[in-house]
Amino acid sequence: MNILGISGGFHDAAATVIDSNGDILFAGHSERYSKQKSDANIGTALLDELEQYNPIGTVAYYERPLVKQLRQLYSGQDVEWDQLTARQAVRKQTQGRYEHVPIQSFNHHLSHAASGFQTSTFDRATVVVIDAVGEFETVTIWGAEYDSKGRAKYRKLWQQNYPHSIGLFYTACTSRVGLRPLDEEYILMGMAAYGNNNVSNRMRYDLIDNEWEIRFKENLHTGLSQKYLCEYSEFDIAAGAQDLAEDLILNIMMRARAFKWSSNLVYMGGVALNCAANARIGHYFDDIWIMPCPGDAGSSLGAAALVYGGRINWHSAFLGHDIPGAYPVNNILDELLVREIVGVASGRAEFGPRALGNRSLLADPRGSEIKEKVNDIKRRQQFRPFAPVILEELADTYFDMPRGFGTSRYMQSVARCRVPELFPAIIHRDGTSRVQTVPKDGSGIRELLEKWYVMTGCPMLLNTSLNIRGEPMVNDRADADRFEREYNVKVCS
Ligand SMILES: [Fe+2]
Repeated sequence: MNILGISGGFHDAAATVIDSNGDILFAGHSERYSKQKSDANIGTALLDELEQYNPIGTVAYYERPLVKQLRQLYSGQDVEWDQLTARQAVRKQTQGRYEHVPIQSFNHHLSHAASGFQTSTFDRATVVVIDAVGEFETVTIWGAEYDSKGRAKYRKLWQQNYPHSIGLFYTACTSRVGLRPLDEEYILMGMAAYGNNNVSNRMRYDLIDNEWEIRFKENLHTGLSQKYLCEYSEFDIAAGAQDLAEDLILNIMMRARAFKWSSNLVYMGGVALNCAANARIGHYFDDIWIMPCPGDAGSSLGAAALVYGGRINWHSAFLGHDIPGAYPVNNILDELLVREIVGVASGRAEFGPRALGNRSLLADPRGSEIKEKVNDIKRRQQFRPFAPVILEELADTYFDMPRGFGTSRYMQSVARCRVPELFPAIIHRDGTSRVQTVPKDGSGIRELLEKWYVMTGCPMLLNTSLNIRGEPMVNDRADADRFEREYNVKVCS
């Protein structure tokens, strides 16, 4: 029977179904169904979608509620006393639909570790998890390997506990500059390139007790005072936060490598979405895997993987709701050549925060005017760049791929562009791009890029998520139709 993994209750609820062969039948985010960004609960629409994967033999829950609530009590937070056990948490998330199904729950950071290691190609790896906070842990380092029966084994090598947390520090800075905490950290990362990072020394002096041990002087869970660093611009604060976060992350990577467990790195937790920091971690590891959904939503997969026990058959991040039909390559090309911008909503939706070609707004990346045109549709801050999607074998020709990342199939890292003057729309202020490389995998986006390259000599497209402003990514055809009406841009299916 199938295994259902659940994460939820805090932010970005998600569900994953794995079958008895280790194949991922489904992985998707609640927000795409409810249209509420970062929806904390698995609603009726996602639960209805999951019905097709019955019967479920085990429900796997991504953390241990009682231990988490002990930490919440310890830190004076509100506690939801109706979710003391995993059974109660699952009952709330699934509206009682799996009442008679056995439940297993796992440590929060172990679920992160499993969703990374068991989807990787590694037989043995060092696993680093960095997030805001799990039950008590904020940073964990694991030694992972498979035993003689092919079952994943994890040995915890080091941990740091609440309230000492890089994730909470970064979220406090996100809030300090007026952005939405636990949601808009990626905007803070984008702002960093425009500021002066000298402020990181002041932050280090004010906030850090021990940089090597990742110990802070104060609990940043309650945020930073709005008066803190008021003499600096928001961009300077962003630059300082990014600079200090990168130094702390690199300290953890150095410590992880020093255990000499493996030169393969699996890196998970919400902080692993910081693709600017990720470009620097290859200094310590030879080969790096960051699952495309490394945050808590990905732990729905991790918890299910722990029940399954062995390696999960990972093929791509296209694991969500299906819009059936062949990938509309020729229709997309027609629109690109005439109007330069086109939407695509085809096949299975992406698992993870990045649009990778199945729910994307695509554009011709050449020339100086396209960024403004796409921004007219997205109506987002002008300082934020767009990302390129490129034929993988040509990535090195156009981008200086960082060590440890020969590829970046899920936009895990930034890379410096070798010819920024040709593609200003996809270059950030610091000369880097959040690259998505596409291998010869038979996917629709691969076929599109190949034909686009033949027709134009350009091996890449601008790729940004297809979403109506203020909403999560487009999920089904009805969402795509609304997008077409609102923005007068064709969305091909
Ligand atoms: Fe987490």
